[in-house]
Amino acid sequence: MSLKTVAPVPPGVSDDRERWNEKYADADFTLPEEPIPELERRIGTLPEGRALDVATGDGRNAIFLAECGYDVDAIDVADAALERAAERADRRGVEVNWIRADVEEHTFEREAYDLVTVSFFAALGLLPELKEALAPGGVLVYEHHLRSSERAEVGPSSDRYRFRSNDLLRACLDLTVMYYEERRRSVIGGDAAVATVVARNSAGGTQSYPRLERVGSTDGTPDEESP
Ligand SMILES: C[S@@+](CC[C@H](N)C(=O)[O-])C[C@H]1O[C@@H](n2cnc3c(N)ncnc32)[C@H](O)[C@@H]1O
Repeated sequence: MSLKTVAPVPPGVSDDRERWNEKYADADFTLPEEPIPELERRIGTLPEGRALDVATGDGRNAIFLAECGYDVDAIDVADAALERAAERADRRGVEVNWIRADVEEHTFEREAYDLVTVSFFAALGLLPELKEALAPGGVLVYEHHLRSSERAEVGPSSDRYRFRSNDLLRACLDLTVMYYEERRRSVIGGDAAVATVVARNSAGGTQSYPRLERVGSTDGTPDEESP
């Protein structure tokens, strides 16, 4: 198990680190083991190469990407999260470059990643840097909780850490937005309202688009061409 520490956090500087380490110290605090559904659904259409998973937690997206052949960097502020993640990766026989750092302190490599994933971490302010970290043609897959008029069963206790409708979409309009959705779906522990975006670091009127099967298709056949 390899844990790399970038930008050591002096005592008292990162409240996030302390807060999240406490959460992970509770054996009842669990996160899903599977990657976020849109990442799994699209994996065959995404550019191969290097991937970055931001706020990886116990590494579900990072481990999935490593299993799919990506060279993965995964960053999280919580030592306890990365210990869990590294143990799980060891059990599954894959290598991930685990980076313990606060994203606010971290310098992201520019134009380095073919794929950047973020799930259930509010980081709109960080998006300019994450977009710069995308290689040309690289894709961002981002999912996070939304403010919702239905009572939230899971997710942040405060709306402060939830996106408003279209926040994520608006923040990605300088990329090619290939998919955007706001919906309720079940996540571990209950139902959640989420926004999901898949957006590519590309521009221009004439681009190449992946062929994807219809959501919920049971036979795996691709969509028929419309007349
Ligand atoms: C709700 S968990 C989501 C984990 C994972 N992305 C998933 O979907 O399973 C949020 C994660 O963000 C991490 N985190 C919080 N603040 C952070 C920061 N400033 N820098 C890096 N990671 C942070 C926490 O340690 C935690 O693992």
